Amino acid sequence: MQILLTGGAGYIGSHTIIELDKAGYDVVVVDNLVNSCEISIQRVSEIIGKPIPFVKADVRDTAAMDAVFKKFKIDACIHFAGLKAVGESVAKPLEYYENNMNATFVLVDTMRRNGVKNIIFSSSATVYGNPAIIPITEECPKGECTNPYGKTKSMLEEVLSDVQKADPEWNVVLLRYFNPIGAHQSGRIGENPNGIPNNLMPYITQTAVGIRKELGVFGNDYDTPDGTGVRDYIHVCDLAAGHVAALKAIERKCGLAIYNLGTGHGYSVLDVVNAFQKVNNVKVPYSIKPRRAGDIATCYCNPAKAKAELGWEAKYGIEEMCRDSWNWQKNNPEGYK
Ligand code: NAD
Ligand code: UD1
Repeated sequence: MQILLTGGAGYIGSHTIIELDKAGYDVVVVDNLVNSCEISIQRVSEIIGKPIPFVKADVRDTAAMDAVFKKFKIDACIHFAGLKAVGESVAKPLEYYENNMNATFVLVDTMRRNGVKNIIFSSSATVYGNPAIIPITEECPKGECTNPYGKTKSMLEEVLSDVQKADPEWNVVLLRYFNPIGAHQSGRIGENPNGIPNNLMPYITQTAVGIRKELGVFGNDYDTPDGTGVRDYIHVCDLAAGHVAALKAIERKCGLAIYNLGTGHGYSVLDVVNAFQKVNNVKVPYSIKPRRAGDIATCYCNPAKAKAELGWEAKYGIEEMCRDSWNWQKNNPEGYK
C-alpha cells in the first residue's frame, strides 16, 4: 500500500515514515516546507536505506495535488500538514484558518475525485479544552479552544466526521495527540522549531545546550502535586507507531474512529526537568514565571481505547523521551542547519 503523508517533512511526519517503512508500507511525501526542510527527508532516507518520493507542493494547490494522485497510486493519506504554533495563531488567525482549513478541504476533495477514501488526521488533545474528565477518555466532551490553532483542529474533526457520515465508504481516523517529545534513537532527526520554542521540551534542550539562558516555568500555583502544569508526554516514535496501528484499522474498514494517543501518565514541568537532568547528567537552569495565558493545570489521557481496538500502546517512558530529545539536540545544536 502507498500512503501519502502531507506535512511529512515535519517533526511527527518524518518519524512516521520510518515506522511505515518498517511495517512494509510505501510512502509519498508532500510538503511546502513552510515549517521544515528537505534535509529531514534526506536523513530519513538514509535511516531506512531507500529513496523517499518527495513533492514540494502546497496542499492547497489543487493542480499540484491532482498531479500527485495521478502520478502515484495512493491508498490512504495521513494528513499532518498544518500550521501549529498556538501563540502565532492568536496573532495571525486568518493565516491559520486559511491554511489549515483550506489544505484539508483541497486534500479531501482531491482524494474524493481520485477515489481515495481513507484518511488519518492529526488532531490534538487541545480539542478537549479544559478537560471535563481526567484521565481523558474519547467520550470526554470537547471543550472550548482558546486559540485559532485549536479551533481549526476541532472544526476539522467535525468536517471529516461529516464527510464520513455522508459517504460511509470513507474511513476516517482522528488521532488526538497528547504531548509528543523525544526523537529517533539515531539522533539524526528530531524537532526543529523556528526561533524561540513555544513548547517545553525544545526549550529545555536549547537551555541545556546553552542557546537559552534559563527555562521559564510557567506557574507553580496550579492545583497539581508540585504546582506546575501536568501533561501526558509521549515519545514521538510511539506516536509514529500509532499511525501504523490506525492504518491497520483503516484496512479493516473502521468507518469513523477517534483515538487518544498518549501514555496515560501525567508528568509535571518539574518532573520533566528533573528527569532530563538526571538521565542526561546536564543542568537545566530554570526560574518560576507567571502562568502562560490559555494554559490548563492538568491534561493526560486514558489510552485504553487505542490499546483495545488498535493493539497499540506507548512503549517508552519519560527517561527515554528525555534521553532521545537530548541526543538529537546535542548532535544537532542548530537543528537541521
Ligand atoms: P511540523 O510543523 O513539524 O509539521 C507540519 C508540516 O506541515 C511542516 O513540515 C510544514 O512545512 C507542513 N505544512 C504546513 N502547511 C502546509 C501546506 N499548506 N501545504 C504543505 N505542507 C504544509 O508539525 P508536527 O509537530 O510534525 O505536527 C504535525 C501535525 O500534528 C500538525 O497538524 C500539528 O498541528 C499536529 N499536532 C502536533 C502536535 C505537537 O505537539 N507537535 C500536537 C498535536 C497535534
Ligand atoms: C501546547 C498548546 C497545545 C498544543 C500542544 C502541542 C498552548 C496553550 N497549548 O500544549 O494547543 O496542541 O502545545 O504542540 O500553547 N511550559 C513551561 N515553560 C515553557 C514551555 C512550557 O513551563 O517554556 C509548561 C507549560 O505551561 C505546560 C507544559 O510546560 O504546563 C507543556 O507546555 P507545552 O509543551 O507548550 O504544551 P501544552 O501547553 O500542553
